[in-house]
Amino acid sequence: MEFIKVTPNYKPYIALIELNRPKELNALNLQLMGELRDALKELDDDESVRAIIITGNEKAFAAGADIKQMAGKSAVDMLKIDQFSTWDQIRKTKKPLIAAVSGFALGGGCELAMTCDMIIASETAKFGQPEIKIGVMPGAGGTQRLTKAIGKARAMELVLTGRFISGEEAMQYGLVNKVVPIEMYMYEAVKLAGEIAQMSPIATQLAKESVNRSFETHLDEGLTFERKNFYLTFASEDQTEGMQAFVEKRKPEYKGK
Ligand code: CAA
Repeated sequence: MEFIKVTPNYKPYIALIELNRPKELNALNLQLMGELRDALKELDDDESVRAIIITGNEKAFAAGADIKQMAGKSAVDMLKIDQFSTWDQIRKTKKPLIAAVSGFALGGGCELAMTCDMIIASETAKFGQPEIKIGVMPGAGGTQRLTKAIGKARAMELVLTGRFISGEEAMQYGLVNKVVPIEMYMYEAVKLAGEIAQMSPIATQLAKESVNRSFETHLDEGLTFERKNFYLTFASEDQTEGMQAFVEKRKPEYKGK
């Protein structure tokens, strides 16, 4: 891996992926995104991992898709390159993904953070969809996910002006879970991942899938989907263990079975 650094056992049950093109502010070129897709697939298959943190560095989570790589391309080139099929695979990661964001999270960087399930931001974070300033528009889900996360009026403003918002503003808008001083954002991301990693990985996966389904379907269909996943948790040993532990007033030990 050239442009990302993967630490599968960063903490017990927690994997860390660091985007690693610091000179280019972690601009997301095709190779980086391919590496990220492959790493996430591997971590998804690794039973010792229950939550995954994606981060950049203090200056940049990611300053967007690689503009230099796209600059000379035609529409047909872009269609053939089909970069977004990689994003579709990333979106299908089963384990919980937490973005730990400091500095720039712009364009594809903001979209990558929003592809994660939760975002912990440092006070220095700057979120935005500035594609409009370079004559294009978001292409990796920005117009859809941002609108769902913060509402139409705010999303429209950000997409049409390219304005950046701070971590604090992102928190007020409901885009991020928590905003903390810069020296705390990794700590908070690990804390959140650690809390989730204590749960049954089976229940976690089914719950994540069900929450995501609410974005993709009508209420009736979503409720049916949720109900089936709920019943499915009763097929796991973790369900027996979780309920038994409650009755016996002890801490459960989940095995992901
Ligand atoms: N692609 C390629 N290179 C980038 C980049 C990007 N998105 N963002 C930054 N870089 C490079 C710069 O070109 C520069 O390289 P050189 O030293 O070789 O010139 C290096 O990273 C450092 O950047 P700056 O000198 O510009 O740093 P700065 O602190 O002055 O400014 C910034 C920081 C405001 C983030 C500015 O770099 C910027 O505006 N970047 C582009 C942001 C952007 O438009 N993102 C959207 C991309 S399109 C997209 O993402 C489409 C999609 O939906 C998938």
